Amino acid sequence: MPLRQLFENNRQWSQQINADDPKFFEKLSKQQSPTYLWIGCADSRVPANEIVGLLPGELFVHRNVANVVVHSDLNCLSVMQYAVDVLKVKHIIVCGHYGCGGVQAALRDQRLGLIDNWLRHVQDVIHKYPKHIANCATELDMVNRSCELNVIEQVLNVGQTTIVQAAWDRGQNVTIHGWIYGLQNGLLKDLKATVNDPSKLKDAQARALEGLMESK
Ligand code: CO
Repeated sequence: MPLRQLFENNRQWSQQINADDPKFFEKLSKQQSPTYLWIGCADSRVPANEIVGLLPGELFVHRNVANVVVHSDLNCLSVMQYAVDVLKVKHIIVCGHYGCGGVQAALRDQRLGLIDNWLRHVQDVIHKYPKHIANCATELDMVNRSCELNVIEQVLNVGQTTIVQAAWDRGQNVTIHGWIYGLQNGLLKDLKATVNDPSKLKDAQARALEGLMESK
């Protein structure tokens, strides 16, 4: 597809939105007040807004390979801090997806270059929960289970950031969710790791991990 086509698509998209709501872009250019922060995989098959049917202005988005929340990643932390402290989002959604190439590469210990260092974080998650992977019959099952484990672990990581901890301390209402998206059916699944209270963080994770064991 030539790049010219992208500009043509963009023109049509803008026209369509204007036709539906002539004030849409004018209103949006003045402010954004999204309710949700989405932390998802960079995979081109998992377009955040589209999956959940939200318009521009409704979803604050951070994406990286394999939806990892690293304690010292200033990029992700800055997005989260702005979302929580300034935009006052009410929900932080960590959304992974089945068949994640990053998770698969981590599981296979593949050598792909610089990204191997990033995927070490996913390998750490995989090594942390050997019991949860042991009962997988095929490699695909193992990849998908690792995708689920990774989401649940990242929910914990979000909850442990100074940003969310401070928000909870001051009584701000922030709920973290762990979801996973199916590339094969376009459907989201809630991994039931939802938490909005620092004292329930570990319990929420344990419950979600138990849920995984029961689903197999
Ligand atoms: Co992915």
